[in-house]
Amino acid sequence: MAIKVCVFDAYGTLFDVAAAAREAAAEPQNAAIAESWQRLAADWRRKQLEYTWQRAITGEHKDFWSVTQDGLDWALEAQGIADPELRERLLALYWQLAAYPEVPAMLAALKQDGFATAILSNGAPDMLNGAVASAGIGDLLDDVLSVESVGIYKPAPQVYEMVTKRFGCARDEVLFVSSNGWDAAGAAGFGFFTVWVNRAGEPQDRLGHPPDRELRDLATIPDIAGAV
Ligand code: LAC
Repeated sequence: MAIKVCVFDAYGTLFDVAAAAREAAAEPQNAAIAESWQRLAADWRRKQLEYTWQRAITGEHKDFWSVTQDGLDWALEAQGIADPELRERLLALYWQLAAYPEVPAMLAALKQDGFATAILSNGAPDMLNGAVASAGIGDLLDDVLSVESVGIYKPAPQVYEMVTKRFGCARDEVLFVSSNGWDAAGAAGFGFFTVWVNRAGEPQDRLGHPPDRELRDLATIPDIAGAV
């Protein structure tokens, strides 16, 4: 079955989640994280994701903006940092994360080739709209789908089902792209054609449902979508 819709995870896939800590660390008033920003970014991301899984399993959903703040608070405390202004700065930067450099041209090529394009993300709608606007890619996306519509986080199947419902397509007509191995596995288990973007050269997750393709960046997605 040919691909009709190309769907992207947001954080870590289109948007560089380490950019907030990296940018804040370069500012003179934030010397506290000048040396440790990479650990801060990694802890923040790890806790943010752990909290989504916990909340999905227990049914105690709260939105991704809340979970993002909870993860940051854990990460700052782990470094012994209590600095409300740094906290606010990091959170503000999360609304304007840089897109990876190849993203605009890649999305433009997909549109030119006639594919529908969308984001499917844990992100709350306001956060996603902020990041999309800041990256200037709104015109290249047909929709931005947030898990807030179903009230549970990835990899719950209801999340992936939002795509087939929105676009009226079959599961195997969807090409799903994520940098998160567990997200790619969830989407593959649901029946999407999946691409895992493995920028760091990490081992594949042991979750079953291996990705159909593994890439180092997003540049060749249009070629893959046209060849399935
Ligand atoms: C998202 C997280 C998983 O954007 O990165 O859904």
